[in-house]
Amino acid sequence: MSQQSVNTACVHAGTLVDERTKGVNTPIYTSTSFAYLDLEEAVYPRYFNVPNTLALNSKISMLEHGEAGLVFSSGMAAISSTLLAFLKNGDHAVFQKGLYGGTFVMVTRELNKYGIDYDITPDNDISSFEKLIKSNTKIIFIETPSNPLLSIVDITIVSELAKSRGLISVIDNTFASPVNQNPIDLGIDIVLHSATKYLGGHSDICAGAAISTKKYIKNIRTTALSLGGSLNAQTCYLLERSIKTLGIRVERQNQNAQKVAEFLKSHPGTEQVYYPGLRDHPGHVIAARQMSGFGGMLSFELLFADPVKFQKKLKLIRPSVSLGGVDTIICSPVMTSHRHLSKEEMEKEGIRNNLLRLSVGIEDVKDIIEDLEQAF
Ligand SMILES: Cc1ncc(COP(=O)(O)O)c(C=O)c1O
Repeated sequence: MSQQSVNTACVHAGTLVDERTKGVNTPIYTSTSFAYLDLEEAVYPRYFNVPNTLALNSKISMLEHGEAGLVFSSGMAAISSTLLAFLKNGDHAVFQKGLYGGTFVMVTRELNKYGIDYDITPDNDISSFEKLIKSNTKIIFIETPSNPLLSIVDITIVSELAKSRGLISVIDNTFASPVNQNPIDLGIDIVLHSATKYLGGHSDICAGAAISTKKYIKNIRTTALSLGGSLNAQTCYLLERSIKTLGIRVERQNQNAQKVAEFLKSHPGTEQVYYPGLRDHPGHVIAARQMSGFGGMLSFELLFADPVKFQKKLKLIRPSVSLGGVDTIICSPVMTSHRHLSKEEMEKEGIRNNLLRLSVGIEDVKDIIEDLEQAF
């Protein structure tokens, strides 16, 4: 199928039409046991090839402008399966500073067990990535905008560097969503998502995704078959349905987050606001070039208020984990996404106790701002 524009792809891409009824939605195939005689490959959920998985693979690859896609049972399943598909004993990978806490923990606590070496950049400067490349480096991994400090990396420059050195470039595109950023168009080899966030969008699905060339997705699938992070048919369907509204949800979240960021920026109770849509954000110019919207995520540091008390005072905004849903939620990264980092690691990553991360939903923005105002 030729490339569809984003909202059309959200609604239609990948839909598996039931020839008997011609219903508009993909039917849910609940079987885990399928006929196998005369087939080249058996159909089985953990083989990532049941009809609902295939429909969704096709939808997400269309959304991210890739040749192929693969959906997983979580974002971490997509990340770990991808890393282990391309890295082996003796290899090295370069990771950007400012990764989501779960990815940071996976990299720093698991990779060495497999004899895989890594380095994390001290900052987001391209020269820092370049300096860390060794003769055995295989992968450069970035996350932009990053969780939770919304730091921005120049995707085109990183993908050019990777290409020039024969490395595979990987991006976690969760915060941007495919609506705001399509890294494959900027030269990235593999795009990953926690589909638990914007793709799911209603805080009721745990899923992940990888999008790339047919060749790379085949490699990832081969490893993923053994690791076992496939997604069940019902959740595939729910995710497929959720993505139908992804475009309009994210558009609204972009608008709301910009207004909330501007409000927080002008409020005397904040020390710092991190949102790439603000002109004084260090990555604003790059973000404006590589993103079509600045996203629904922002973080801020409180100047006086106690972060726990501040969250407890909120009436509409729920203090809760995860992000990307239609409900506005807030969390303290030191208590949630980054709680497994040591004090030193937290300090190095620039994550402070007074930092709060806000996932802006689709409510009327005046109500979100009013709630924050009264909590100050
Ligand atoms: C940027 C980012 N990547 C990956 C993940 C991991 O996703 P999951 O929780 O679906 O495994 C998260 C989860 O918060 C995230 O924020």
